[in-house]
Amino acid sequence: MDTTQFFDNLWADYMSMTPQANQISTMLRDRGENIINDHVAFRTVGLGAITLLNLERQILALGYSRLAPYSFEEKHLDAWSYIHPDPSQPKIFLSSFRPLCMSEASLKIMLRIILKINSETLDLSSPSLFWRGRPWDPISWDEYQILAADSEYLAWVAALGIRPNHFTVNINHLNTIDSVEQMLELVESIGLKVNESGGRVKGKGLLLEQGSTMASHMDVEFSDGVRSIPTCYYEFAKRHKGPDGELFQGFVTSSADKIFESTNENT
Ligand code: NI
Repeated sequence: MDTTQFFDNLWADYMSMTPQANQISTMLRDRGENIINDHVAFRTVGLGAITLLNLERQILALGYSRLAPYSFEEKHLDAWSYIHPDPSQPKIFLSSFRPLCMSEASLKIMLRIILKINSETLDLSSPSLFWRGRPWDPISWDEYQILAADSEYLAWVAALGIRPNHFTVNINHLNTIDSVEQMLELVESIGLKVNESGGRVKGKGLLLEQGSTMASHMDVEFSDGVRSIPTCYYEFAKRHKGPDGELFQGFVTSSADKIFESTNENT
């Protein structure tokens, strides 16, 4: 599989969970823009078959290499960013929840669902693992609440599985939009909510400035019925040149920390 097929499949899965992505990309295309993605992000937990080391094999197989590690102490996450030798390809950001930071109740739920994964529900030898959906039976609504009380991130993974969490428009490549704030105002003009946690534009004055929407909501199946929960959001990034004269390619932990909150329940 080449990277074009990989991202086409991811985009289709993301669109199925994120109606706002269609609204925003249509708005940009109507302005004559050609959308280039800065990065796509995934979430996982450090248990069983779905550890970061297991999942990243398919990213490396696509020709990506590790760029830099990140840790988010408050959110209990470790992450790696990955970069492709072809600079037109989006970067990939893969984060993972530390099992030692889970509450006993959360760990019990996560272990139960993750230990049921088998090669039929999750094919670790295929990049399709990133868009095939939740590789375990639905959890109950009570379990979702237990996980969400511990960490919104854990509840997201348990309810939705290994899926694209967000796509990120690269503002550097847009012709009619120059700043993250301008992009956020356009997003609001079509009726969507912006993540204001830590300020609208994260990393102002730093080498990477980012903003995002608040996640779409979707009806998701739980073992005891269907409920509407936050799914995915759309992110916007503008990169600046570092002292070496090259565009910064990394990520800024303090900004990403607040952007994780784009999937918090806000209604
Ligand atoms: Ni991101």
